[in-house]
Amino acid sequence: EKVVLAYSGGVDTSVCIPYLKEEWGVKEVITLAADLGQGDELEPIKEKALTSGAAESLVADATERFVTDYAFPAIQANALYENRYPLSTALARPLIAKLLVEAAHKYGADAVAHGCTGKGNDQVRFDVSITALDPNLKVLAPAREWGLSREDTIAYGERFGIPSPVKKSSPYSIDRNLLGRSIEAGILEDPMAEPPEEIYLMTKAIADTPNDPEYVDIGFERGLPISLNGQALDPVALITQLNQVAGNHGVGRIDMIENRVVGIKSREIYEVPALLTLIHAHRDLESLTLTSDVSQYKRGIEDTYSQLIYQGLWYSPLKDALDAFIQQTQEQVSGSVRVKFFKGNATIVGRASSNSLYTPELATYTSEDQFDHKAAEGFIYIWGLPTRVWSAKTRG
Ligand code: ARG
Ligand code: SIN
Repeated sequence: EKVVLAYSGGVDTSVCIPYLKEEWGVKEVITLAADLGQGDELEPIKEKALTSGAAESLVADATERFVTDYAFPAIQANALYENRYPLSTALARPLIAKLLVEAAHKYGADAVAHGCTGKGNDQVRFDVSITALDPNLKVLAPAREWGLSREDTIAYGERFGIPSPVKKSSPYSIDRNLLGRSIEAGILEDPMAEPPEEIYLMTKAIADTPNDPEYVDIGFERGLPISLNGQALDPVALITQLNQVAGNHGVGRIDMIENRVVGIKSREIYEVPALLTLIHAHRDLESLTLTSDVSQYKRGIEDTYSQLIYQGLWYSPLKDALDAFIQQTQEQVSGSVRVKFFKGNATIVGRASSNSLYTPELATYTSEDQFDHKAAEGFIYIWGLPTRVWSAKTRG
């Protein structure tokens, strides 16, 4: 048997290598580490897989694909799980699943594996995505079954030459990529405990942010961010730069109790400076360019879309159908949004579009006004008719 294993370089996924071979009789473990802009050095990770017993150690540079094919559609959908979490971790899973399946096909593997535990969302996303892409592939999740404590895991690894973590390992469980960081566990398991400043890397504390505001014009075309302050940028550069600016002003921190797919409530901290800013800016541009009814209908779609990303249904017929709706709505969503960054806020202070539906002659209170005030009277007579009839019956 040949298996492609999703590999991060951490102890748990490293232990998966000897475990799959020794306990489950897998002949060859091929590891795959995905570069999603998390900023890890990939060469040592590649080496570590080999010294841990991998037959082959693959590294996939997938940052651009991640932003273009996964993050950008989510921005067009204003995707916020439970109205708050922009799905920075969740969006990475279907891409990693796809990379695993592609590698399995290329190397003729019969199964793919991941190191997720049995309590999280990520196992759901991996398993469902992998089998959606290839129902004939087996999915192995050793860490879901081995029942090893942290100490046992490290001890098991040491038997196979996997060094235990050098520095006292962080009490937090952290996932990161170009879009952001997700932090859980440790003291954060107490929902009343304020997150210690040390957990944040991408965003400054308000006390340390600049005392002057910074303005950034974000350009969009068909709902996709294309420029900052008039400078055209490729997707990865745009996110990278905006992370810098927003993070420097302390924008993008989220502290929430969320509902996991497996029914558990968990306390989760996110820092997602660029992604959160882009969703707010994009939503604002939509308010200028979409009609009222499309906007309103889209809000329901967005909620469903966010849930299905969270719940691992990226490769599903519902997702495809909603994508078609969302893409159709984005035709007119081009223009620019001015964001003011200051002391933890990203405030939208202006927006402009050649597709703007905002009509000054209709909106103005000055003498330029062209709105027909008399037409309002007949409209209100009919609009209020059902309520008047009801009132006469029940109150009259
Ligand atoms: N709760 C988030 C999600 O399901 C993040 C989980 C990320 N994992 C972690 N080790 N913090 O998308
Ligand atoms: C895990 O259990 O693998 C990480 C947490 C999660 O998936 O939500």
